[in-house]
Amino acid sequence: MRVVLGVSGGIAAYKAASLLRRFTESGHDVTVVPTEAALRFVGAPTWAALSGKPVATDVWTGVDQVPHVRIGQQAQLVVVAPATADLLAKAATGQADDLLTATLLTARCPVVFAPAMHTEMWLHPATQANVATLRARGATVVEPAAGRLTGADSGPGRLPEPEELYAACLAAVGTAGGQGSLQGLRVVVSAGGTREPLDPVRFLGNRSSGKQGVALAAEARRRGAQVVLVAANLAVPAPSGVTVRTVETAVQMEAAMTAEVADADVVVMCAAVADFRPRSYAATKIKKTHAADGSDDSAPVIELVRNPDILAGLVRDRARRGSGLRPVIVGFAAETGDASGSVLELARAKLTRKGCDLLVANEVGVDTTFGQDSSTVHILSADGRPARTVGPAGKDVVAAAVWDEIGGRLRAH
Ligand code: C5P
Repeated sequence: MRVVLGVSGGIAAYKAASLLRRFTESGHDVTVVPTEAALRFVGAPTWAALSGKPVATDVWTGVDQVPHVRIGQQAQLVVVAPATADLLAKAATGQADDLLTATLLTARCPVVFAPAMHTEMWLHPATQANVATLRARGATVVEPAAGRLTGADSGPGRLPEPEELYAACLAAVGTAGGQGSLQGLRVVVSAGGTREPLDPVRFLGNRSSGKQGVALAAEARRRGAQVVLVAANLAVPAPSGVTVRTVETAVQMEAAMTAEVADADVVVMCAAVADFRPRSYAATKIKKTHAADGSDDSAPVIELVRNPDILAGLVRDRARRGSGLRPVIVGFAAETGDASGSVLELARAKLTRKGCDLLVANEVGVDTTFGQDSSTVHILSADGRPARTVGPAGKDVVAAAVWDEIGGRLRAH
C-alpha cells in the first residue's frame, strides 16, 4: 500500500519513527511528509533513512514531479501523526501553505489524523470544532490517549502507541474496503501447530506460531464475521471478539473442526497439522535404558501412524452433503520447492489433490514464515484464475488479501 506519513511539529514526532518502521516492515511503501516545525523535533535524515526516500517539506523541491499534487493523488492512505492543533486547523479550513497541507487537499484515499497536544488545546472548542469538521468529511480522527504529557501535567492529549495507530490505519483502509463485508457470516479458522504426544513430557510438533491464523481470525472479525478460532498451541494471544476452541492434537482438531463447520460459510485451514502421530502413547516418561556395565546406548524406535487429513475430510463431507460451495474451503500449503517443482507448481498440484476452493501457498524455511511477522504468499484459486502474489508483507496484510479473495468467491456463488 502507498502510504503518506505526515508529521507535524510536536514532541510526539519521535513516536512517528516507530509507526514508520511498522509500516515499512509490513511491506508498505511510505513517503514521509514532515512540516518545517516537525523537523525541529526529528530531522530529515531520520525520515529519509527509515523510509528509503527523499524528504521535503515544501512544494518547491523536485517541482518537475509536481509533488504537491502527485503525492496526495497516488496515496492509498494518508496518516498524520502527530497532528498538532495548528495542523488540524489548517486541514479543517483547507489551507495549503506547505507540502503536507497541499497533500491533504489532493488525497482521495482514507485519511487518519492522530492528534497530540496539551489537554487545554485539545479540549478547546476551536480544536473540537475542527475535529468535528474533519470527521464529518470522512476522515478518521483518533482519540488521543490520556496520560503523562510533555511536562509534569497529565490528561488527554498523548499520541497513542504506534501499534494502536497502525491498527487504526488498517481499520481506516478497511472502512474503504472490506469492513462489514463479512457481516452475518460464520467463519471457522484453524491456527497454530498440533502436538502429538509421545509420553507425558514429550511430543512431536512443528514450528507454527499461529500468527497467520490469528491475523486471519482478527481480520474476519473486523469485517463483521462471527468467528470461531480452533487454536492449537498458539505462541501469540487469540484476538478479542472471537470464540476460541483450544485443541492439542490433530485428532482433537479434526473433532473440533467437524463440529464447528456444520453451519459455517467459510472454513480456513491455516493450522500446521502433523501428518503422523506416534502409534502408542507411553503413560510414563520414556527412560534411557542402561546395561549393567553402562555400555548400552540404544534408543527407542518410534512407530508412527497417519493422522487424518482434516482439510481433505472437510472437502469430502461437503461433497457428501451436496451443499454446493458452502462452506467455502481454504487450505494453506507450506512449501520449500524441490527437484520435483517450484513452490507454485507444487501448490497448484496440491490444490487439485485437496479439492479446496483456494490454496494459500507460502515459502518456508527455518528463518522464513514460521514465527516471523511477515511472509510472501501465492493465493491460488480452483476456478483457474492466475495466482495472486502478496508480500513480503505483514501477516495482517496477507490476511486482508486472503479475505478479499474469499469475499470474491462468496459473491460469485
Ligand atoms: O498436505 P499438506 O499438509 O501440505 O497440506 C496443508 C493443508 O492441509 C493445510 O491447510 C493444513 O491445515 C491441512 N492439513 C490437514 N490435515 C493434515 C495435514 C494438513 O487438514 N493432516
